[in-house]
Amino acid sequence: MSPTTLPTAIVTGSSRGIGAGIARQLAADGYPVVVNYAGRRAEAEAVVTYITENGGRAVAVQANVSQTADIARLFEEAEAAFGPVGIVVNNAGLAVRKAFAEFTEEDYDAVMETNLKGVFLMLREAARRLVNGGRIVNVSASFQGAPIPGYGPYAASKMAIEKLTEVAAVELGSREITVNAVRPGPTRTDLFMHGKSDELVQHFAKQAALGRIGEPEDVAHVVSFLASPKAAWVTGQIIGANGGYW
Ligand SMILES: NC(=O)c1ccc[n+]([C@@H]2O[C@H](COP(=O)([O-])OP(=O)(O)OC[C@H]3O[C@@H](n4cnc5c(N)ncnc54)[C@H](OP(=O)(O)O)[C@@H]3O)[C@@H](O)[C@H]2O)c1
Repeated sequence: MSPTTLPTAIVTGSSRGIGAGIARQLAADGYPVVVNYAGRRAEAEAVVTYITENGGRAVAVQANVSQTADIARLFEEAEAAFGPVGIVVNNAGLAVRKAFAEFTEEDYDAVMETNLKGVFLMLREAARRLVNGGRIVNVSASFQGAPIPGYGPYAASKMAIEKLTEVAAVELGSREITVNAVRPGPTRTDLFMHGKSDELVQHFAKQAALGRIGEPEDVAHVVSFLASPKAAWVTGQIIGANGGYW
């Protein structure tokens, strides 16, 4: 397939962090990429500039993934810019780290609206619009080891999207659309680094078999494979992209 015939890729939350790494990687793979963001337009435009200066195609589109109308517009703008959508990476997410006693309902709603409802709404729209043979990758998190205090609703939102992943894979299999999830471990982004001392970051790094925290590119390489034709026989899987961190 020549690069001009590759389908459009939407990466939610790709103005920063892991999503930006995924957008850069998919663009390097030849896909035209929609760089979605919530509010940080300048960061999203910087990712687009990086991609275009390196020979790729990209456009920034603001959309709140927890809003149905925004999701419809996101797909419409993606199709208008580059043609039918073939890859959706549901990466947008936020973390609120607080003990249960301090966790407000507003905190809970914010986490669930973006991390869980956002993925549900994107899956629903993708089920209606994705080309046959398309690829969906949901970004979960590594929460298989000892429970981490403060991450109750965040961990719950991620475990829930893994179940959405498995059911969507079964529903969309007849159209040869694959649906998988990746579990990053601690990764050097605003979300992970915020409020953590160097000592605490090192504590997390030592828990990975490979002895360091991840970089966005580490996760992007795994998503790149799952989005590729080579991953046509991989669906309904939950895959660690975490250097051996549980
Ligand atoms: N970093 C880690 O250690 C780690 C570990 C495991 C899993 N993850 C998961 O990886 C994903 C990316 O995390 P990250 O660390 O890269 O986070 P990040 O650096 O905080 O970036 C979050 C991205 O999501 C966007 N976003 C937030 N709410 C949104 C909404 N309602 N609609 C659309 N976009 C929204 C942000 O847009 P703006 O820039 O416009 O605000 C930004 O692009 C998340 O799902 C996270 O849970 C991260």
